[in-house]
Amino acid sequence: MSTLIHNGTLVTASETFDADVLIDDSGQISAIGRDLSAPNAERVDACGGLILPGGVDPHTHFELPMFGTVSSDDHYTGHKAAAFGGTTTAIDFINQDYDSLKDCVDAWHKKAGDKAAIDYSFHMNIVNFNEQVAKEIPLLKEEGITTLKIFTAYNGVLRIDDSSIFKILRIAGEHNMLTLLHAENGDVIETLVEEALAEGHTSAEWHALTRPSWGAGDAILRVAGMAHAADASLYIVHMNTAIGADMLKYARERGAKVMGETCPPYLFFTIDHMRQTDGAKWICSPPMRSEADNLRLWQAVERGEMQTIATDHCPFFFDGTQPIDYEGEQIAIPGKELGVGDFTKIPNGLPGVGDRLPVMWTEGVVKGRITPNQFVAMTSTNPAKIFGMYPRKGALLPGSDADIVIWNPERKVKYGVEMAHHRTDYNLFEGWELKGYPEKVFLRGKLIVDGDKWLGERGGGEFIKRKEGEVL
Ligand code: URP
Ligand code: ZN
Ligand code: ZN
Repeated sequence: MSTLIHNGTLVTASETFDADVLIDDSGQISAIGRDLSAPNAERVDACGGLILPGGVDPHTHFELPMFGTVSSDDHYTGHKAAAFGGTTTAIDFINQDYDSLKDCVDAWHKKAGDKAAIDYSFHMNIVNFNEQVAKEIPLLKEEGITTLKIFTAYNGVLRIDDSSIFKILRIAGEHNMLTLLHAENGDVIETLVEEALAEGHTSAEWHALTRPSWGAGDAILRVAGMAHAADASLYIVHMNTAIGADMLKYARERGAKVMGETCPPYLFFTIDHMRQTDGAKWICSPPMRSEADNLRLWQAVERGEMQTIATDHCPFFFDGTQPIDYEGEQIAIPGKELGVGDFTKIPNGLPGVGDRLPVMWTEGVVKGRITPNQFVAMTSTNPAKIFGMYPRKGALLPGSDADIVIWNPERKVKYGVEMAHHRTDYNLFEGWELKGYPEKVFLRGKLIVDGDKWLGERGGGEFIKRKEGEVL
């Protein structure tokens, strides 16, 4: 059965115009135009609202093992929360847990396949590099994985040395793959953490105090330099600092193929939030910084110096000893309480996959910092282009998947843990008054969110084999 969405205004990354959208029974957009005639189609009234391409979140961690526990949203619960917030595609990160990269990919498929409720894909973390891995990296493209993540922090766990980074960049460059960088200075962090613990500093704020912001700046500049020398493209994930934004701009102005992503919490919160009694709620890496950093990151977003807004969704319970009700079941998963008395044991990560669009609409569009088109570009179209899914995703075009959000720019909500649908016991935006919210969300033409009703299903999401992406 085809579907005709009418009485709405389309917002794309570049245009805003009134039109109907016709969706064919295969779940693709078949036509866009005024007063489309489709007598046999089911008619959906957008009620004068906006019609946006579904959000694309290029950075999530569902069911990620960490510090003896696991991030509390899996590929079903996290996807459901994403959909309620208007996101219809998410890209997760595969752990390099086995010698063969293919085995790592298969393990992540096993974890996600039956649960996925929106469309999804994977990036591959490279935390051990050797000849065998070097040979296997290009083969990932056959699996639809065209992106790698590397780390300059988490010494002894995830970090790799500069010579491995350079070799990976060269392989990625040769094969038109994109390398994602977690940019902090691992050696400085290791030294400062040892000293802080020896001096008896155990509270949450020390997580930020032991990870100086210049570490992001030096890592971005250093690896951007290597990427330039390797003729490779680079994408800096979860950018949290002014100096990082400056280094991104510096590198781009000099012709390095570097792009950047920030996440909403870095635009609003600071180390002062980590000084509160519930400061562990804000612990993630890299950490919250200062108001000056918030402002510089906003500037980078407004000016288009930053290409995407993602979430780095990696939630943990604040108090994992107390169950919450989730779909009628009592669920408790060990979380931030594991680090009471030692900030280094607090699982790193924040909820956010459902928050991204509603928070960025209110704080970005309603407050006049970005246009609706910039909003669509940064939360949907740019990630789809950079990560090789455009125009199947991130677009309202004939032939695109009908991943569509009917957005009500007038709907006011008091946001928080209840509305967010994340499987955790807190939300960083608790009590915020938001204006603008999804009314209906379609995944490949199927209505999966209708107001407050969940119509999606486990296993309803499809793995997207990605192509080579674009450098924006
Ligand atoms: O604290 C975070 N961000 N946890 C997830 C892992 C990462 O580095 O992105
Ligand atoms: Zn990271
Ligand atoms: Zn992450």
